[in-house]
Amino acid sequence: MYIGLKHLHSFLPYLLLTVLLFAFVKSVIAYRGQHPHTEGHRKNGLILLILAHIQLLIGGILYFVSPMSTSGLNDLGAAMKDSTLRLYTLEHPLMMILAIVLITMAYSKSKKDISSHLKHKIKCIYFGLALVLILSKIPWSAWL
Ligand code: HEM
Ligand code: HEM
Repeated sequence: MYIGLKHLHSFLPYLLLTVLLFAFVKSVIAYRGQHPHTEGHRKNGLILLILAHIQLLIGGILYFVSPMSTSGLNDLGAAMKDSTLRLYTLEHPLMMILAIVLITMAYSKSKKDISSHLKHKIKCIYFGLALVLILSKIPWSAWL
C-alpha cells in the first residue's frame, strides 16, 4: 500500500500544479480585464479543489505509514534538528494543509453571492499564496 500511495502522491502534484497555475493566471487575467465569473471559472476551481482534497487524503495516510515522517514522529526533538526529517514531519504537511485550506476557501467564497470582480480578486490572492506555499515546501530533492 505504501509504495502505491507514494507513487500517487508523487504523480498528482504534476496535475495539481498545472491546474493551480492555470487557475491563477486565468483569475489574474479576468480580474484585470473585469471579466464575468463564468461556469468555466467555477469548474476550474472545482477540479483544483478535488485534486487538492485527494492529495490531502493520500498525504494524511502517508504521514502515518511513510518512514520519512514516522521516523521523525518517533523522536520529534531530534527530528527538529535534522532539516530533512523536519521537512517531512512538520514543514511539508503544515504548509500543504494551509495551501489546501486556501484553495478550499477560494472555491467556497466564490460560490457566495458577491461580485465577479471580488471572486476573481479572492482567487488571485488565495491561489497565488497557495502556489508559493506549495512550491516552497515540496521535497524537491526527492521529487522530479
Ligand atoms: C482528508 C480528506 C478531506 C477533507 C478533510 C475534506 C474537506 C472538505 C471541506 C471542509 C469541504 C467544504 C468546502 C466548502 O466550504 O464548500 C469539502 C468540499 C469538497 N470536497 Fe473534500 N475533503 C476531503 C477529501 C475529499 C476527497 C477525497 C474528494 C474527492 C475525491 C473531495 C471532494 C470534495 C468536493 C467535490 C467538495 C465540494 C463540494 C461543493 O461543491 O461544495 N474531498 N471537502
Ligand atoms: C498540495 C498538497 C501536497 C503536495 C503538492 C505534496 C507533494 C509531495 C511531493 C512531491 C512529495 C515527494 C514524493 C516523492 O518522493 O517522489 C511528497 C512527499 C510526502 N508528503 Fe506530500 N504533498 C502534499 C500534501 C501533503 C500532506 C497534506 C501531507 C500530510 C498530512 C503530506 C505528507 C507527505 C509525506 C509523509 C511524504 C513522504 C513520502 C515518502 O517519501 O515516503 N503531503 N509530497
